[in-house]
Amino acid sequence: MTDSKISYLKAMKRLNAAIPEAKDLQEGLQTGLDIILEDFGFEYAVVWYPDKSGDMEVLRPAYWVGDFNLTTAECPLEGNIVGRVFTGRSSEMHNNCDSSVTEGLDFLSGIEVRNLECIPVAAGYDAVGCILLINRAGGADITEDEHNVMDMFGILLSMYFDDNDAIYESMHRRSVLATMRDIRKDYRNGDIVTHVLKGVDVDIHEGEFMVLLGESGCGKSTLLNIIGGIDTATSGTFTFKGEDYSNPGEKVLTKYRKENIGFIFQSYNLMPNMTAIQNLKYIAELNKDSLDPEDALNLVKLDGKGDNYPSQMSGGQQQRVSIARALVKQPQMILADEPTAALDYETSIEVLQALEERVAAGMTLVMVTHNEEIARMANRVIRMKSGVISSIKINPHPAKAADLSW
Ligand SMILES: Nc1ncnc2c1ncn2[C@@H]1O[C@H](COP(=O)(O)OP(=O)(O)O)[C@@H](O)[C@H]1O
Ligand SMILES: [Mg+2]
Repeated sequence: MTDSKISYLKAMKRLNAAIPEAKDLQEGLQTGLDIILEDFGFEYAVVWYPDKSGDMEVLRPAYWVGDFNLTTAECPLEGNIVGRVFTGRSSEMHNNCDSSVTEGLDFLSGIEVRNLECIPVAAGYDAVGCILLINRAGGADITEDEHNVMDMFGILLSMYFDDNDAIYESMHRRSVLATMRDIRKDYRNGDIVTHVLKGVDVDIHEGEFMVLLGESGCGKSTLLNIIGGIDTATSGTFTFKGEDYSNPGEKVLTKYRKENIGFIFQSYNLMPNMTAIQNLKYIAELNKDSLDPEDALNLVKLDGKGDNYPSQMSGGQQQRVSIARALVKQPQMILADEPTAALDYETSIEVLQALEERVAAGMTLVMVTHNEEIARMANRVIRMKSGVISSIKINPHPAKAADLSW
């Protein structure tokens, strides 16, 4: 048997075993996509779903794999391969793509497209989206056998998952909490202008754990501070819960921060002359709907440590007090800037576990780190490079803090 025949049979077998085991369409889709990407390798994969909120029906990326940022991408239902496959419910495969195949897919400009495979995703009889796979690894053509495997993937999804609202919903993008469009930040020092953020487009989804990853100096903290209202952008649009905060006055910004954001920094910034519980009570008294400070300490597993002063606690314990302090005011979103950078491995894991539990309970968390291992915990990893987003990747199966090692 040829290699291509073997990988085709292997992928068939894996898909046949995995998809019936998935608990819903979303999981079936993610698991199947993992198998396809692992066995055949593609440079890019995009899952599209129809967005009917506007006047015109368009398809938008629900998630994607690969080094590009599709936050603002959309695709009309007519005139290109994605729309055709979605409406026609039949897969298409192309090797040696010319512009007639990629027409209307503006996000592909700048990418040399060698081959494309597009398969419909269906729940029962309803088409709920489609998957676009771009550029076979190594440049090899997609074979007829491989095309058949991918086709079968779409068919398996529709066989095992019935048409119902829950499944349809699960295909849709989670509700968006914050949006950033073309965010730029310049620092001016005399005649010298430094462009620190050079046009950032990204959404923050409600309830997600987002990691901002990148080398030191690439602009992660600057972006986080703009999200948190500690700093403002030089230009661009920032919205939170549908409200525009692009050009906020100081008063509006203070209110935004106070009502919505909990911060955690590398340094714990606890008041040294106050006990743990006093550090929390101090914040609780400044906020209307605050959490009971004792309950907040329980959430980070520091019950019984309330009367300790910061100097009587380990770094990990102090950082957990600072997490509790961020939780006290019941924020919409927690922003954490390298929260474990000053900690050893074991206490880092304790701190990450405390954060992981809050995400499981529904909290939205945006965390800056340069630790690739920690990024495995995120639902989405936003990689930054000198002031721009270089890629956005979904983690279909986020790792548990306890499973990390470095
Ligand atoms: N107040 C400032 N004035 C001038 N340059 C700044 C200022 N703050 C940050 N920078 C520069 O912006 C770049 C990005 O900084 P930062 O967002 O802190 O990066 P990261 O968090 O990714 O390490 C760095 O090169 C830094 O020197
Ligand atoms: Mg930083």
